[in-house]
Amino acid sequence: MVDALVVSSINDLTERHGFGRMASPSVPRFQAFSLQDDPRGLWTAEEDGRPVGFAWSWACEDFWFLAQLFVKPGLQGGGVGRTLLQRTLAHAADIGARNRALITFAFNTVSQGLYIQHGFLPRFPLYLMSIPRERFGGHVPDQVLEVSPLDGSDAETSLLSELDRFALGFSRAKHHGLLAGEPGIRALGFSQGGRLVGYCYISQSGHIGPFAVASPELAVAGFETALAVAAEGAVESISCLVPGSNASVLRCAAAAGLRIKFPMLAMSTDELGNWSCYLSRNPGFM
Ligand SMILES: CC(C)(COP(=O)(O)OP(=O)(O)OC[C@H]1O[C@@H](n2cnc3c(N)ncnc32)[C@H](O)[C@@H]1OP(=O)(O)O)[C@@H](O)C(=O)NCCC(=O)NCCS
Repeated sequence: MVDALVVSSINDLTERHGFGRMASPSVPRFQAFSLQDDPRGLWTAEEDGRPVGFAWSWACEDFWFLAQLFVKPGLQGGGVGRTLLQRTLAHAADIGARNRALITFAFNTVSQGLYIQHGFLPRFPLYLMSIPRERFGGHVPDQVLEVSPLDGSDAETSLLSELDRFALGFSRAKHHGLLAGEPGIRALGFSQGGRLVGYCYISQSGHIGPFAVASPELAVAGFETALAVAAEGAVESISCLVPGSNASVLRCAAAAGLRIKFPMLAMSTDELGNWSCYLSRNPGFM
């Protein structure tokens, strides 16, 4: 029921702004995982026993992230979103969060206004970009990295945590565990000279992310490798969420013919870095 509410709220917003429908129903795996991991971040608002609002935050170490905040179309503007946001912010206080962040729709003035009132500031744009598979054929990568499946070993898990600490400032070991068990997703490691220098997940729909590399200099090679691997599958399109602050990857995506579908915005209470080594999966996963 909550997934249906989220889907209808997203599509109402994107259609109102002329972007067409963005969301479709899916199994709420990450929400269920987070509910079990730390239920303090999940809240629903109900009317006559039916959900009319949903908020969900997750935390890794002292980093807090608002994954979803949605109110039923027709009930928006009545204070439900503000109340839900304040409940999830109590979760941030509980964990002693040093930074609080989220990704919202760049065209939603209401969400941005509400977040600014709660201490979040705009940091950088992100673009959900995609290209139909048949149009991608002509792109020849300049540089590629060696690719192999992630094996889930303890040694590798600690290397993935190192990559995340470097790119984002905290370990996402529990989220790698979740992704490893997700049906239809390919978990890949990038290496150079036998050393793991990055990772990337590619879904069966052709979506790239999350993605991380060990240095900004490897970002384009990693990204071009990910595009090439995604294009090998029987996919209709290839897509990714590129931070606008990562000039080299953004240029590379544009040169490969990817088009902007939805402009998004990263907001946070403290500096968020420029994500020169990281591509998020989606606005909720980050
Ligand atoms: C964003 C959303 C969750 C907010 O919930 P809501 O119940 O509509 O919001 P509230 O009524 O609690 O608060 C809205 C506040 O935003 C602020 N606001 C609204 N429009 C604004 C604008 N143009 N500029 C600045 N601030 C604005 C106001 O302070 C307003 O409260 P007020 O009218 O009492 O002063 C809801 O509108 C929604 O679901 N939107 C579609 C999905 C979405 O974008 N979700 C966010 C994903 S990150």
